[in-house]
Amino acid sequence: MTFKQLNLLTDWPMKGPFDAIFCRNVMIYFDNPTKARLVSRFQELLAPGGWLYIGHSETLLDTGRSLRLKGPTTYQKEG
Ligand SMILES: C[S@@+](CC[C@H](N)C(=O)[O-])C[C@H]1O[C@@H](n2cnc3c(N)ncnc32)[C@H](O)[C@@H]1O
Repeated sequence: MTFKQLNLLTDWPMKGPFDAIFCRNVMIYFDNPTKARLVSRFQELLAPGGWLYIGHSETLLDTGRSLRLKGPTTYQKEG
């Protein structure tokens, strides 16, 4: 496991694929177009079957092509 600082709104150094992405209580700061772009980037980085966890006060308005709601604030990329 590696820990690094990351600005979600700029280029990312990591390539993935990731089995899980935790992005909790961060998207609340962003407007809807920014949120949609971020979710789309998360989808690209997730492995098939990978999980996206967001905060309990958050919802994804548009989950894109491949993310499915699997539980409260828990989404899975189709495999
Ligand atoms: C409400 S805190 C949530 C912290 C933690 N994820 C949690 O659930 O306890 C929001 C966090 O979003 C971070 N944040 C805001 N804008 C960001 C950005 N553009 N890139 C990365 N992190 C950002 C802030 O630094 C802050 O740590």
